[in-house]
Amino acid sequence: MSRTVYVNGDYLPENEATISIFDRGFLMADGVYEVTSVLDGKLIDFEGHAVRLARSLKELDMKTPMSKEDLLEVHRELVRINGIEEGLVYLQVTRGSDGDRDFAFPDPETTDPSVVLFTQNKPGLADSPAAKKGAKVISIEDIRWGRRDIKTVQLLYPSMGKMMAKKAGCDDAWMVEDGYVTEGTSNNAYIVKGNRIITRALSNDILHGITRAAVLRFAREAQMEVEERNFTIDEAKAADEAFTTSASAFVMPVVEIDGVALGDGKPGRVAPRLREIYIDEMRKAAI
Ligand code: PDD
Repeated sequence: MSRTVYVNGDYLPENEATISIFDRGFLMADGVYEVTSVLDGKLIDFEGHAVRLARSLKELDMKTPMSKEDLLEVHRELVRINGIEEGLVYLQVTRGSDGDRDFAFPDPETTDPSVVLFTQNKPGLADSPAAKKGAKVISIEDIRWGRRDIKTVQLLYPSMGKMMAKKAGCDDAWMVEDGYVTEGTSNNAYIVKGNRIITRALSNDILHGITRAAVLRFAREAQMEVEERNFTIDEAKAADEAFTTSASAFVMPVVEIDGVALGDGKPGRVAPRLREIYIDEMRKAAI
């Protein structure tokens, strides 16, 4: 069955939705995005994603295409029309098209941003078999640009990272810069030692994960210690546990790094507990 998607004000069947070949998202990766999860047909942490979208747009001098209320309405409408119970809503805003290719930004007075949203149906997102098994990761060099705090659509290197992981028989890659782990290809990275959760502090080097903020809040509320600092791959290999967080996979235990099993090679105690708390709490707060 064809999805209904949203493009610049219209709800259309996916095969009728079009964007200009001159769109700067297509030509220059000049665009930002958000992925919001859906549980029980409701949006998880919409507010967090809307706030980060506004920040990404501001950092790139892009116009805000619509109010937060209107954006919420489009998200909800797509979830409703497409009958999504568990899944994702993808939102992309690009600097639009002024009908040609030019490095200089077009005049925002005359060129509107392009706005695209679509849903992805993912039954079993919460009760995920992958989360019960845990993920195997490899480490790769982080060669992305220096503004990873802006959620841009420049995802070629993360895609290459996923392919490198796949080739190595693994699920994902953790990126390393100057000897320290930055983040996963599409998630934030954590290690656990005893009752202590260690994750890189926020800066321009990583995306400020919306799931990260909520999970660290829940961890502190559950009397776990949180340490925001750099860690190396060697420290991660020697940790009791490791995990990642993202809107698309919530809390995902990591059971192997570069072929080294963590603990007994099965998800430990902390990551599954945090996953459970996160899903329970976010379900309650979903809108
Ligand atoms: N990725 N770091 C990177 C590089 C990411 O791409 C993502 C999210 C995260 C986690 O952010 P959040 O908790 O707000 O989802 C961290 C999304 C899910 C994606 O690209 O599909």
